[in-house]
Formats: sequence, structure tokens, C-alpha cells
Amino acid sequence: MVSKNIENALNEQIRVEAESSQIYLAMACWAEVKGLEGVANFMYSQSQEERDHMLKLIKFVNERGGHAHVSELKAPNVTFKSFQEMFEKLYEHEVYVSESINELVHISLQEKDYATHNFLQWYVAEQIEEEAMARTILDKINLIGNDKGGLYLFDRDIEQLTINSAASTGTV
Ligand SMILES: [Fe+2]
Ligand SMILES: [Fe+2]
Repeated sequence: MVSKNIENALNEQIRVEAESSQIYLAMACWAEVKGLEGVANFMYSQSQEERDHMLKLIKFVNERGGHAHVSELKAPNVTFKSFQEMFEKLYEHEVYVSESINELVHISLQEKDYATHNFLQWYVAEQIEEEAMARTILDKINLIGNDKGGLYLFDRDIEQLTINSAASTGTV
């Protein structure tokens, strides 16, 4: 059984994951419209991953005797000045999500809810990977800057990154 405090905190994280999914979906659309198919595919799959993170939390809350809430979401940014700006936003967002998970871990320890604490370890590990991936991409895009040829190659390479990450997490 989850306490009301934990239930509320988990519901807040459900909203954060849902918003992440929407933010990345908007990024996917923008990249697609701009003709970067590789980046678009990468962002579509990131959006799907965030939805999976949300669903995993929903199932946990409901299984532990709580009630998972589907709440209203903030509308995401739909346009960006550049791909550099878009990937900066992605990295910053992942850092924000990590902080949110850390806070949740903190609350679970305060409440001595070891089941939730144990469940959250998956998210802690996932955030390490996601932040690292966002950092790698941002470093690459910062090297490329506004070079069209570089962006073309990057668009091709990022799909490889998607495949590799999917294979390493065992979702393929
Ligand atoms: Fe997530
Ligand atoms: Fe994420």
C-alpha cells in the first residue's frame, strides 16, 4: 500500500513523464518538417520511451493500492531556432527529470517506503543513460554548429544511435 504522500509524488512523476513524451513528440514533428528524418525518428522513439516510463509508473501506483491520475499537460514548444537549441532543451529536460526522480527517491526514504524505493532504482539507472545520451548528442551537434553537411551526416548517424540504445536496453 502506498501512502497518500507517495501516491501524490508518484502522480506528479506520471505527469512529468507524460509531458516529456509530448515535448519529444513536438521535437519529432519539427525535425520531420525540417527534413531531418533520422532526428525525427530518434525523437519519435524517445517520445515512445517516455510514454513507457509513464505507463510503468501508472501500473505501479495502481498495483500498490493507489490511483494513478492522468492529468492536464503543459503544451510543449513546437518550434526551435536551430537543432542545437532543440538538443540543448532535450539535455536540460533530462537533467530536470533526473532531479525530479532524485526528489522522489528522497521522499520514498523519508517515508520508509522501501518497495517504492526499490522500484525507483530502475528510473535512477535509466536517467543516467538518458542524460549521457543527451550529452553525447549535444556535444556532437555543438561541433557541427550550422554546417549543413555536418547536419546531413548527423541525421544519418543518429538513427544508428537509436538502434544501438534500443538493443542495449533490450527493447528490440
Ligand atoms: Fe523518462
Ligand atoms: Fe527521458
